Amino acid sequence: MDSDVTPEAAKATASPGDSVPPSRAIDAARARADCVLADCLNRQDGVCPSLDDAMRYGVLGTGKRLRPILVYLAGQALGASDDALDAPAAAVEMIHAYSLIHDDLPAMDDDDLRRGRPTVHRAFDEPSAILAGDALQTLAFEVLAATPHPRLGALVTTLARAAGRDGMAAGQAIDLGAVGSRMDLASLQRMHQHKTGALIRAAVRLGALTAVEESDPRLAALDRYAGAIGLAFQIQDDVLDVTGDTQTLGKTSGADAQRDKPTYPALLGLEPARERAQDLLAEALDALDVLGEKGTALAALARTMIDRDH
Ligand code: IPE
Ligand code: IPE
Ligand code: MG
Ligand code: MG
Ligand code: MG
Repeated sequence: MDSDVTPEAAKATASPGDSVPPSRAIDAARARADCVLADCLNRQDGVCPSLDDAMRYGVLGTGKRLRPILVYLAGQALGASDDALDAPAAAVEMIHAYSLIHDDLPAMDDDDLRRGRPTVHRAFDEPSAILAGDALQTLAFEVLAATPHPRLGALVTTLARAAGRDGMAAGQAIDLGAVGSRMDLASLQRMHQHKTGALIRAAVRLGALTAVEESDPRLAALDRYAGAIGLAFQIQDDVLDVTGDTQTLGKTSGADAQRDKPTYPALLGLEPARERAQDLLAEALDALDVLGEKGTALAALARTMIDRDH
């Protein structure tokens, strides 16, 4: 999923119009997200340079940037400008990066490899990883709140709910509490919808709300799209943990089975898990119908999110 668009070119380019091929719109959004994140994180005057280093390490690098891309594409589909989408795009990726840094800690999944290099607590130390995650979470809200917007309250609430006690953090707590136990399918689905789906839904909603009022009927269609790809994305993550190799994944394959994590392949088997992800992809694409041509890039992104090898 490497981009051939430089960040500078991406920022200089106006929002891709309908005539731009989907892959080009996705690459442009990724490059723009990289550029905005670097702007937020690259500073030399911080109070604690080593904390800034750990934050940069955790965010910058080879992440796929799917959540900020979703912000840009959902916003563009409904007519938002890229400038207005920069802050929500950066904010959601900072929350995601914080969640990964903490997810990898010894007290959680205890992983040594992330995005093809040592995890933050390995490259730095555990206190630095905890604090880098904490500071990224607050920086996300600082960046979002600093950008004037008529629906700023709704944007902040969307991100906070998705990250917090009824969103990602709840899903992570359920995940860790369930290690070694057998979950039924409904509970597993609920866990995935929270730990991963909530932030993906928030990304789409942030983009959409940047463009239109909460009462716009297209929000419900986009939420159906986001709910389906959010769940499918975590199912595919579970599948890749079984079928992928460490080099391609950039994280240690087989870690879920080793830790006896509840996953779709463990509960359903590999092929039914794959089929479930494909069914959800079909549902996501169906939900985009109301957007017509404007949904083309979101449809292409959904395909890359499910039919991926890392
Ligand atoms: C990994 O997310 C954690 C999950 C929620 C499955 P990504 O696969 O989006 O990770 P990066 O950002 O590309 O590294
Ligand atoms: C992580 O799920 C979800 C969040 C970070 C919120 P996983 O634990 O499966 O993610 P990976 O496989 O470590 O990326
Ligand atoms: Mg985990
Ligand atoms: Mg993990
Ligand atoms: Mg995983």
